[in-house]
Amino acid sequence: MTAIPGGYLGAFEPVEVMTDYAVGVIGAGGRGRLHARRFARIDSCTVLACADLELSRAEQLAADVDLPEDAVFTDYREMLEEINIDVLCVPTPPAVRAAIVIDCARRADLDAIHCEKPMASTWGDCRRMTQECRRRGIQLTFTHQLRYSNAVEEASAVVDNGVLGELTRVEMRRSNLLEAGIHQVDLCSHFTGNVPASWVIGQVDYREQETYRGTNIEGQTLGHWQYDNGIHGLAATGRGSDLVEPHVRLIGEEGTLDVQFSHDDFDGTRVLLRTGGEETVVFQGERGPAITRTLEDVLCCIGSDEEPRVVANNVFVANELIFGVYESSRRHGGVEFPLTVDDDPLQSMIETGEIYVE
Ligand SMILES: NC(=O)c1ccc[n+]([C@@H]2O[C@H](COP(=O)([O-])OP(=O)(O)OC[C@H]3O[C@@H](n4cnc5c(N)ncnc54)[C@H](O)[C@@H]3O)[C@@H](O)[C@H]2O)c1
Repeated sequence: MTAIPGGYLGAFEPVEVMTDYAVGVIGAGGRGRLHARRFARIDSCTVLACADLELSRAEQLAADVDLPEDAVFTDYREMLEEINIDVLCVPTPPAVRAAIVIDCARRADLDAIHCEKPMASTWGDCRRMTQECRRRGIQLTFTHQLRYSNAVEEASAVVDNGVLGELTRVEMRRSNLLEAGIHQVDLCSHFTGNVPASWVIGQVDYREQETYRGTNIEGQTLGHWQYDNGIHGLAATGRGSDLVEPHVRLIGEEGTLDVQFSHDDFDGTRVLLRTGGEETVVFQGERGPAITRTLEDVLCCIGSDEEPRVVANNVFVANELIFGVYESSRRHGGVEFPLTVDDDPLQSMIETGEIYVE
């Protein structure tokens, strides 16, 4: 039985989960091992098997959670043939994720697939993996654990209690959009009700030709969008990111709220409220067990009418916005949603030489 502590708006009512879900992990890198260890601590599931192209990695994960030798695979298809899995965890690199998710959804009778962020490395793959899981009734989720952090719980309570008045704008900053900043763009969705965006306009700079985890990333982006509920969004990454002071800023008619994850002066998180000329530190402290809460929410919602905060429908918005910013740069103009491109416009522009480099 797992009980989730109460918090944000009562959305985390304690839920009893009696089922012992069988968990299989595909991708035994740093995140795979972390997820396996976190799943192993939750009563309502048992990690039964893992697969990684590199046997030594799979063996390391197996040692972490005491898996027997015959539960360790280098081919995930064999794992699915030999072991009955209910919940698949896919913390592979994003480029291979959609193909694995779609293949597993077709091969096995799964209840849920939980993946690392970003959803996929192209917008077409994001759509296809979401559609395949929806068609088969498989709950699809992603590790946007900041939605479950203590700071976000506290900030959500401030917003939902109406302290800021009507929200008019959300802003984010980070070093880059897709690899790191997707967490903050996703938090913008969390605070604006997970509604889709209507349009985006953006620009991307790639003159420094940087890479991050083997992927080309921009040196700077500026993005402006509007959600269907009228709230504006602003993203500033890389060189110009200090345009937005905290990682996420919520601007309402009656005040602003800054959500900062670690700071020069302290190691933790801080939520700062500004209303009526006064500043109040609403929260300062640890992040909290955000990944464990994410996985508990994922397991609790299987087969219920509730959706986890990090369900594909919610997380979709941030992915569409980011690929939309890149597409806007490629088009030299604004982009209306839904976004219909299939590729990652930034990677395509880099491959074709279409993007400006000095
Ligand atoms: N949520 C977060 O805060 C957070 C933090 C760090 C990383 N991540 C994300 O987690 C993901 C994984 O990151 P990582 O650092 O663990 O990477 P990693 O390279 O350490 O691990 C990925 C593993 O996947 C395996 N793999 C690749 N293709 C496979 C296949 N077809 N079948 C089986 N295994 C396969 C690789 O061999 C590797 O062991 C990335 O998308 C990254 O962006 C998220």
